[in-house]
Amino acid sequence: MNTFGLPPGFVFGTATAAAQIEGAVHEGGRGESIWDAYARTHTNILDASSAAIACDHYHRYAEDFDLLSMLGGQVYRMSIAWPRIQPLGRGPAKPEGIAFYHRLLDALLDRGIEPWVTIYHWDLPQALQDAGGWQNRDTVDAFADYTRILRDEFGDKVAAWMTVNEPVVHTGVGHAIGRAAPGLMLLGSAFVVAHHLLLAHGTAVRILRETLSTPVGIVNNHSPVEPATGSERDAGLAALYDHYHNGQFASPVLTGAYPPQLGEVAGISFEVIRDGDMEIISVPLDFYGVNYYFPTRVGAAPPFYPVPFAPKEYVGLPVTDFGWPVMPYGLLKILTELKTSYPQMPPVYITENGCAYDDGPQGGLQGPGGALQDTRRIEFLEQHLAAIGEAVAAGIDVRGYFHWTLLDNWEWQEGYTKKFGLVRLEPATLERIPRASFYRYAEIIRSARGPNPT
Ligand code: FCB
Repeated sequence: MNTFGLPPGFVFGTATAAAQIEGAVHEGGRGESIWDAYARTHTNILDASSAAIACDHYHRYAEDFDLLSMLGGQVYRMSIAWPRIQPLGRGPAKPEGIAFYHRLLDALLDRGIEPWVTIYHWDLPQALQDAGGWQNRDTVDAFADYTRILRDEFGDKVAAWMTVNEPVVHTGVGHAIGRAAPGLMLLGSAFVVAHHLLLAHGTAVRILRETLSTPVGIVNNHSPVEPATGSERDAGLAALYDHYHNGQFASPVLTGAYPPQLGEVAGISFEVIRDGDMEIISVPLDFYGVNYYFPTRVGAAPPFYPVPFAPKEYVGLPVTDFGWPVMPYGLLKILTELKTSYPQMPPVYITENGCAYDDGPQGGLQGPGGALQDTRRIEFLEQHLAAIGEAVAAGIDVRGYFHWTLLDNWEWQEGYTKKFGLVRLEPATLERIPRASFYRYAEIIRSARGPNPT
C-alpha cells in the first residue's frame, strides 16, 4: 500500500477527449462533428470559440506525449474522433484518419504508455445527426460499423476499450435540455437517446470480443445525491434524481433492467425497448469506468420546470471555477453506493476526476521552481486519491485513476474559460507550461510505482 492506501499494481494516468484537444478540424479529410456545428452558433459557447484549434494536439501530440513520459503514468485515456475515421459517419475508413491514430498509438507505445481508447466521446458526425442522430436506431448500426473499423485497425495496439463516455451527460445536457451539442430539447423523451447509446455500448462490446480479448468497459458519470432538506418530499425527489442520474445508466448495464422509477419522470417511456435489447446492454464487462466530479443536492423544482427535481446549492463547500462543489468524500460515497446496489460490479477504474482552477501566472502565482502554484488542484488530487484509498480499504476493487486532464483544453460549451490542465496552455502561443500539480502528480506516481517501474 502506498501513501494513499492504493494497492500495488494500481495504475495512474490522465484522460483526454479528441474533440477537446485535437484541433485541425479541416485536416486529414475529417468530417464535421455535431460540436463543430453547435459551436457555429456563437451564443452556444461561453466565449464564442470553437474547437478548430484547441490544443493543436493533432500536430503537437509528440510534445504532449513527452509530457506524459515526464509524468510517468502507465496509462493514458484518449478518444478517437469518429469524423476522422468516417467523415459522414458511414462508409469506408478515411486513410488519413486511420494513419493519424496509428501514429498516435505508436507514439504512446514507443514511450511505454498503455493506450486506453474511448470509442465515442460525444463527437457524432454531423451527417448522422442530420439523419436523426441518436434518436434514430440506425445510428447504432453505424456505430457498430465504426467499431469494427477500429477493432480491425487498432486492435493490437489498444490496451483497453471504453465504448461510450458519460451517456447521462450526452443525453441530459445535449439532448434533453439543449445546453450542449446537438442542442436538442427533448426533455423526458431524450430517453430514446439514452437507450440507443446503451445499445451502441453493448453492441460494441460484442463486436470487440468477436476477435479480441482486450478488456472492455463503459464510462459513466456518477454523482452521490442527497436531499436539500430533511423533508419527505425532498427525500423522494433526491431518490428520483438518483435513479435518473446514476441508475439510468448503471442499472441496465450491470443488471439488465432500467430502474422502474424512471417512468415517473415526465416524458420517459420504455416503449422504445425491443426484445433482446436488455441482453445486449447488460453484456458482462471487464471493468466499470466511473467519472466523478461533484455531489448533487436535490430539492423541488421551481414552477413550470420540466422535471420535478432541481439541483440546490451546497452551503459551506468550496467550489471550483466551474462552480462545482468540492467533496472528495463524495467519491467514496458513490463507490460505496454502487458496490451496495451492484455487488456484481466488475473492477472499477476512475476514468475521470479533476477540477477547473485558473491558477496562472497572472496572480503572481509562479512558484520557486518556476511552476505555476495551483495548490488547490494538488489538494483536490491528493484528497480524491485518499478517498479511493478508503474505498479500497472498504473492499471495493478500484484499480486505477485517470486525472482529467493533461492540458487546458476546449471545455465544450464553456469554450476555453475552464482550465482543467495539470499543464497550462498559454492561449496566444499554445505553449505548454506544467503546473505545480503536474510535478506533484509525477512524484505521487513515482513513489507508488517504486524506483524501477516496469
Ligand atoms: C466530463 C467530460 C469531459 C470533460 C469533463 C470536465 O463530463 O467527460 O470531456 O468535459 O467533464
